[in-house]
Amino acid sequence: EDGLHPADHPWAHRGAFDTFDHSSIRRGYQVYREVCSACHSLDRIAWRNLVGVSHTVDEVKAMAEEVEYTDGPNDEGEMFQRPGKLADYMPAPYPNDEAARAGNAGALPPDLSLMVKARHGGADYVYSLLTGYVDPPPGVHVAEGMNYNPYFPGGGIAMARVLYDGLVEYDDGTPATTSQMAKDVVSFLAWTSEPELDERKKMGLQAVIILSTMTAISLYVKRFKWTVIK
Ligand code: HEM
Repeated sequence: EDGLHPADHPWAHRGAFDTFDHSSIRRGYQVYREVCSACHSLDRIAWRNLVGVSHTVDEVKAMAEEVEYTDGPNDEGEMFQRPGKLADYMPAPYPNDEAARAGNAGALPPDLSLMVKARHGGADYVYSLLTGYVDPPPGVHVAEGMNYNPYFPGGGIAMARVLYDGLVEYDDGTPATTSQMAKDVVSFLAWTSEPELDERKKMGLQAVIILSTMTAISLYVKRFKWTVIK
């Protein structure tokens, strides 16, 4: 059974010439880090990817250094721990799927890197899912340990509601309402699933400008050359 159809939202990056809302991506990273990363990995994103998108290089270096990574083997053939660097990928909450399932009553929290692209409904779906937890309607039975969410196909989802007003404190002073955090984390996840979007749209705009200029020039030249041959 399909989930409820999510409402359309005017995402900043939706239009052909629109780029991402980078302040929203920055806040969304904070929501991912403080809330979602307890259960969900983000395998395709390295620390360096955040540089110039949501954070400065110094900020990203400091954030990476707070995480311990296992590296090696060294010359003695031993593995060792070292602080993270820009080239490292986002740390995963669990060492493998088995541990992830064990930590979530058998359900696997999927990697979020491509989630906004992978799911039908994209950004609108993930936003509706995060803000759409309600009591089950009369007569609908939700299995033990499951949560009712009309946007999730089938209605019963292993993930409980995670966003509540005031859960995080944004450094830009934006009030962290449930819907604000959902919007921001979805902006962030829209970027992780399509990090080249801004660049692609800029190139598209340049192509349109160059091609229309060339068309204008060639029309002018044609008129000029053909005036003698009426
Ligand atoms: C599933 C997002 C936090 C556990 C999902 C799905 C999304 C998502 C998009 C996939 C739904 C689908 O399959 O269509 C998020 C976001 C979070 C967050 C954006 C932070 C704001 C958490 C946390 C936990 C968790 C903190 C663990 C306590 C799960 C589990 C599933 C899931 C177990 C699988 C559900 C199922 O298949 O029934 N999440 N999640 N999530 N999430 Fe989260």
